[in-house]
Amino acid sequence: METVTLIPGDGIGPEVSRAVQKVIDAVGVDIEWKEVNAGAGVMDKYGTPLPDKVLDSVRKNKVALKGPITTPVGSGFRSVNVAIRKKLDLYINLRPVKTYKGAPTKFKDVNYVVFRENTEGLYAGIEHEVGEDAAESIKIITRKASKRIVKAAFEYAKRENRKLVTAVHKANIMKLSDGLFLETAKEVAKEYPEIEFNDRIVDNMCMQLVQYPDEYDVLVMPNLYGDVISDLGAGLIGGLGLTPGANIGDEIAVFEAVHGSAPDIAGKDKANPIALLLSGVLMLRHLEEFEAADRVENAIAEILAEGKVLTKDLGGEAATTEITEEIINRL
Ligand code: NAI
Repeated sequence: METVTLIPGDGIGPEVSRAVQKVIDAVGVDIEWKEVNAGAGVMDKYGTPLPDKVLDSVRKNKVALKGPITTPVGSGFRSVNVAIRKKLDLYINLRPVKTYKGAPTKFKDVNYVVFRENTEGLYAGIEHEVGEDAAESIKIITRKASKRIVKAAFEYAKRENRKLVTAVHKANIMKLSDGLFLETAKEVAKEYPEIEFNDRIVDNMCMQLVQYPDEYDVLVMPNLYGDVISDLGAGLIGGLGLTPGANIGDEIAVFEAVHGSAPDIAGKDKANPIALLLSGVLMLRHLEEFEAADRVENAIAEILAEGKVLTKDLGGEAATTEITEEIINRL
């Protein structure tokens, strides 16, 4: 039996988290879920959106499944999602972008993986006002953080038999910060002569991914670019309802979808649970439950290919609970 921390989150988080619990239960993997929560809903009780008991639970169990958590825009508390990644030093944000047959997209054979640096860059959260009419955000790039994310991308490529790693940057403009990232990536690439390496400037990368997505394999980049490129990837493969993710450190891994709390459809039994389910598939593989992971992924692929029971974002009419039952029936 594995013990896993469950952070259901808010908005559609609780609905899609329950779906994942049900499917994992149905596939026969014995997980004891330790439920804790974070975000606006716990502010009154704990005086913080990220109580210590959440971080303590994840530190103890080493693995967590997390639903999305709303971040107030402009003012209010800083992103709990970013804080969890930083406090637990989950420096890898892994986001696979893969087309399934039947998904609502004209793109085929897309299968690349984004390695987004998760602890620094423009998400370091160092901002201040300069007088009344200006504000500054400081972007931090270090050799240490760049090296470990690029190494993680190459190690993944080696393990998963991928052929190409592409570093994404804007070193032509941010010569020092992105320059350091690129220089570090080139140094690390020399340690992996069997894997091809190239680099792309981020704006060109966006265009390339729309024109020739099947030419890319493993992409590695600083924080903000990774955030943008993974949503672009979601658009390529049929939407945020299909895009999983994981935040991984040396010892701890937190699995969460790319999408947010989708307040527009929250509580209506309309959310697509597949993105968090595929994050659950990544979690099962992390727990070395390979057969169960394959069964869940195959069941999802089957219902997408058939196209009969789909949520609204995929062009169907089915509720979250209905698509979840259909996936369970396929197991
Ligand atoms: P969002 O991803 O929540 O929603 C964007 C659009 O995609 C909406 O139309 C929504 O209905 C749709 N959508 C997203 N997930 C879906 C799903 N599973 N099934 C069907 N439709 C889905 O992005 P938005 O609106 O920018 O952010 C809402 C809140 O979520 C914000 O407070 C934001 O800060 C937070 N957020 C949290 C994240 C996390 O917890 N890791 C990640 C991204 C955003």
